[in-house]
Amino acid sequence: MPPTDERSNRSEPSSEPRSELSTFASVRRLHPYVRTALPRLAAGLAASLGASLMALAIPRVLQWVTDGPLTAGARDHDWSGLAWSVALVAVLGAGEAGLILLRRTLVMFPGTRVEAAMRMSLFRHLQDLPVSFHDRWPGGQLLSRIMGDLGLLRRWLVFGIIQLVVSIVTIVVGVGLLVATGGWLGIIFLCGAIPVTVLAFRFSRRYRKISRLSQDQSGDLATTVEESVHGIRVLKAFGRGPDALDQFTEQAAELRETEIRKATTDAGLTTALRVIPEVTQAVALVVGAYLVAQGDMTLGALVAFFTTTAVINGPVVDLGMTLSMTLNARTAVDRFFEVMDTVNPLTDPERPARPEPVTPGRGGATGGHVAFRDVTFRYDDAARPVLRHVDLELPPGTTTALVGLTGSGKSTLAMLAPRLFDVTVGRVEVDGVDVRDLTRTQVRERVAVAFEDPTLFSASVRDNVLLGVSDDLPDAERETLLAESLEIAQAHFVADLPDGADTRIGEEGMSLSGGQRQRLALARAIAARPRVLVLDDPLSALDVTTEEAVTARLRDVLAATTTLVIAHRPSTVALADRVAVLQDGRVTAVGTHQELLASDPHYRHIISSLTSEPTPSPTSQEALS
Ligand SMILES: Nc1ncnc2c1ncn2[C@@H]1O[C@H](COP(=O)(O)OP(=O)(O)OP(=O)(O)O)[C@@H](O)[C@H]1O
Ligand SMILES: [Mg+2]
Repeated sequence: MPPTDERSNRSEPSSEPRSELSTFASVRRLHPYVRTALPRLAAGLAASLGASLMALAIPRVLQWVTDGPLTAGARDHDWSGLAWSVALVAVLGAGEAGLILLRRTLVMFPGTRVEAAMRMSLFRHLQDLPVSFHDRWPGGQLLSRIMGDLGLLRRWLVFGIIQLVVSIVTIVVGVGLLVATGGWLGIIFLCGAIPVTVLAFRFSRRYRKISRLSQDQSGDLATTVEESVHGIRVLKAFGRGPDALDQFTEQAAELRETEIRKATTDAGLTTALRVIPEVTQAVALVVGAYLVAQGDMTLGALVAFFTTTAVINGPVVDLGMTLSMTLNARTAVDRFFEVMDTVNPLTDPERPARPEPVTPGRGGATGGHVAFRDVTFRYDDAARPVLRHVDLELPPGTTTALVGLTGSGKSTLAMLAPRLFDVTVGRVEVDGVDVRDLTRTQVRERVAVAFEDPTLFSASVRDNVLLGVSDDLPDAERETLLAESLEIAQAHFVADLPDGADTRIGEEGMSLSGGQRQRLALARAIAARPRVLVLDDPLSALDVTTEEAVTARLRDVLAATTTLVIAHRPSTVALADRVAVLQDGRVTAVGTHQELLASDPHYRHIISSLTSEPTPSPTSQEALS
């Protein structure tokens, strides 16, 4: 399927309720992350304010120079006072430059530290969130939040926020000075501030919406890239590359349009912020010239007025940029907390139960006891439950095959034991304890899974297979586990890889065949030496001979382990001591293969549909009888 249809229902999170907090309240939520960086950020702000005050002091010196030493020098031909004042201006200028440099040095490191800390906690939270969250949220939205948004926030922290405060302080102090010292001219300038304030407010409201839209669209675009890269084989095989490109182009064009709207809105404000002060300055110049001519104002005061307005003009024009940066940062904060605020319903209990300790048990460890008790399960947003009142007991050390028609809920049931989902009603017990009363670590120590779709990581074969094995185990023991598990899963092909078990297997193991991947996933589940093993159709991609070899070896391993094996083939059913039939969301029958063949018409129906595929091998025939 081209990603189009999939995306439309996956981009749901973007339309989740938006934060109705004010920008200030929104940004204040960053406090826990910026707390340790605050002293340096405050020092950076102080340095910036110092620089700005120095800039504002220069016009005062110029006023004094014009009305004092300059006038006196021209009158008395004595320029000594002028030299001192030039030196003072130079010192103020150098001081301003030094403070700006200091600000940069002070805020650079805390900014990157905050970004890294937020990125880490977001990733940690993503790892913690349940499978149901990841089913709902498109990868690109998460990627754009973890990369783009946090980068935006860092730039705002080290530059935007400081610049915003400095701009506002400079404008307020500067306008105050103008009003205090410039008389009528000051009041004219103050009048100019009114439209600026109104425009800034209107801009904020409008820009916030566009900023949100743009950041969400970036996330959707990232999702499209991620999906098409992920599904590149399918797209190529079905010649759907051009469709993917069309979809990408359409989304990129939408994003471009939003960016243009964003830039136009920004440019509108920036233009107004440039024009309004210019107009006020022009009016002030006419009035000022008149006042000086009338002798109501000194020339120095007029020079000071215009140099002060020049100092203020910079921050006024920057206000547009710093405001938009702030609003973008606010959107980034909202998007960050939308994920961080998602509560994980699958939490560890406060007082975990303490079932008998797990023997790290090589080989002969007895299997755990699993029981599904009156389990009903419905996926979020699904209309009907997939499983209804399921009762199924897996006594220690037994192997139970779960059979049912496709879509009957076998994989869903299998995912409840390792607590990838929580039951809607009822309970799943491991060793007599509800899995919700165990910590997730306790559950994982007991239950290992090989999924239907074997996901591997771009790491070495060793790391992939030993994923569920404690790092604390001595190296020699880890190596033995690796060798044994690979042998049981009949993954002899590993020896032929360029670097053996050290070979990196490419992104998601795509450099391997389906059957090879499946055997590594099986080896990974076995290597964890769990008390409960859940195998979701573990041999589906294997040829009959390899399957027989794996089956023969698995039977030894499964003798000591409690196993739930989802079976689509009679040969897999043959691994089991008993069979459970799943029909219409219920376990309708449990018994040996023979018993069920004799008593259960639905089982006969399933088996006949299974046996129409590969015929059971002699070994499996034997085991089945
Ligand atoms: N993440 C999910 N969200 C919503 N519904 C789901 C989800 N996963 C599966 N389902 C639905 O639950 C039902 C059972 O799916 P499940 O994967 O458990 O079937 P199965 O018995 O393993 O099928 P198969 O033999 O084809 O592997 C299906 O109707 C499926 O559409
Ligand atoms: Mg399945």
